[in-house]
Amino acid sequence: MTYSEVDAKEIISRYPVPRSALLPLLHLVQSVDGCITPAGIEFCASMLELTGAEVTAVATFYSMYRRKPCGDYLVGVCTNTLCAVLGGDAIVEHLSNHLGIDVGETTSDQKITLERVECNAACDYAPVVMVNWEFFDNQTPESITGVVDALRKGKRVTATRGADIGTFQETSRLLAGFPDGKPSGDPGAPTLAGLEAARPDR
Ligand code: FES
Repeated sequence: MTYSEVDAKEIISRYPVPRSALLPLLHLVQSVDGCITPAGIEFCASMLELTGAEVTAVATFYSMYRRKPCGDYLVGVCTNTLCAVLGGDAIVEHLSNHLGIDVGETTSDQKITLERVECNAACDYAPVVMVNWEFFDNQTPESITGVVDALRKGKRVTATRGADIGTFQETSRLLAGFPDGKPSGDPGAPTLAGLEAARPDR
């Protein structure tokens, strides 16, 4: 598969300045290659009239852009302070043992990549695990093991906030700005409670 100039031009047309389209274009590259490749960097640079160095500087700054391929499902366990003390560290250890891989590695069937991730601003649901950037809230080692086992078997899995879990490349296309028409879920009551409390008319 190769990059679609039609898709790239559609993304670029959404912005007043072409270079502002770099972040979604990088997601478009990941939707094709599964990570940021030299060819993808060259494609973004040529579409946006940037240098390869400029594209690389952005692509290497954000952790959502990967420099090596991952499995179909990128499982990121939050191990920042709150999630860690409420069970994030135990979840990582359990998943690592269950999957037979270390953090940063991918299962031999190329389905699951296990990572630690930084705070996802979802501490009200700690401990949190993200699968291809969808939230799995209030997890336990047992609950998230059920999730990864179902994904490896090709079963349909829904995040706790309602979104269907797609593959990393499918999700990358979504992040590039091409909706798949599936429900995206919502943040839920605990997160919205703070917003409600802060309303000036209360
Ligand atoms: S510490 Fe895990 S979401 Fe904030």
